[in-house]
Amino acid sequence: MAKGQMRCHAFLVMTSINWDQGRMEKSIPARNGMSDLANKTALVTGASRGIGRATALALAEANARVLVHYGRSMAEANAVVEEIRAAGGQADAVQADLGTTEGASTLARRVRKLVEKRLDILISNAGVSKAAALEDYEFEDFDMLFTINVRSPFFLVQQSLPMLAEGASIVLVSSLLARTVPANAGQPDVPSLSAYAATKGAVETLVKHWAAEFGSRRIRVNAVAPGVIETDMSNFTRTESGRHLTLSMQTLKRIGQPSDIADVIVFLCSENARWITGASIPVDGGSEL
Ligand SMILES: NC(=O)c1ccc[n+]([C@@H]2O[C@H](COP(=O)([O-])OP(=O)(O)OC[C@H]3O[C@@H](n4cnc5c(N)ncnc54)[C@H](OP(=O)(O)O)[C@@H]3O)[C@@H](O)[C@H]2O)c1
Repeated sequence: MAKGQMRCHAFLVMTSINWDQGRMEKSIPARNGMSDLANKTALVTGASRGIGRATALALAEANARVLVHYGRSMAEANAVVEEIRAAGGQADAVQADLGTTEGASTLARRVRKLVEKRLDILISNAGVSKAAALEDYEFEDFDMLFTINVRSPFFLVQQSLPMLAEGASIVLVSSLLARTVPANAGQPDVPSLSAYAATKGAVETLVKHWAAEFGSRRIRVNAVAPGVIETDMSNFTRTESGRHLTLSMQTLKRIGQPSDIADVIVFLCSENARWITGASIPVDGGSEL
């Protein structure tokens, strides 16, 4: 290779290194900034325990101010608030029973008082499940499932819309069961989860419609669909047989934890997810593939 060519090649290598370094220097702070939720206020329903608690902590870690909603577990909700404040974050507890007719509007009214008209993030996570023989379901069970899992998010979003800022993000917690039937369904002594699953199907339908209806206001609406996560709701994961059943469904061989869901929710609320709306994202360790 001629001397001139070598110099030229060396120059290209150097400029490309400099260019890459420059791009990295520029991109690293920008990327951090994009997952930073400073100056954003988030409401997380059902944040006293389980997935909601992990989500509240993760949002606070991303610098959001968090409203920690609870129904009955006041001590647990206050402990979440204290944990966030002790780490230098901002949080307040807010109570409302979402199993009552006025629960969602009571919650929206209490949130309005706390946020002074501006809410950036709404996580609808509070939920209940029921597993029983189909013939044992009463009207009350069905109504309770649909009241807490579907009616309350519907009216909470309706009542919160005036507070939701342009660019806001709504995330609803669905379930793997909205689209997938467990492999053991219908076998003797295996309880039916069909009513619970139907509530999550309804949640995913709301997500699509709301994403379309709110898009012109730049409000994004998405769902996460967890597989089995170790919480009070899925306490069967704490038994040997439950653990075995769970691992047999998944391609990733460990029991899912609340933080596995919380991290995806934080991503969906961040600028990194700015082009995602109307989606239901499975977060299930590759369940029933
Ligand atoms: N764990 C799983 O395997 C799994 C899988 C797929 C989807 N999910 C979904 O994930 C969400 C969270 O579940 P989780 O496993 O974290 O459950 P969890 O540990 O049982 O926690 C449920 C939360 O919902 C709140 N809640 C329940 N009923 C309420 C009511 N009537 N009014 C107000 N708050 C109420 C509870 O608040 P209080 O205790 O303060 O009343 C609690 O904070 C649910 O929507 C669930 O369907 C869970």
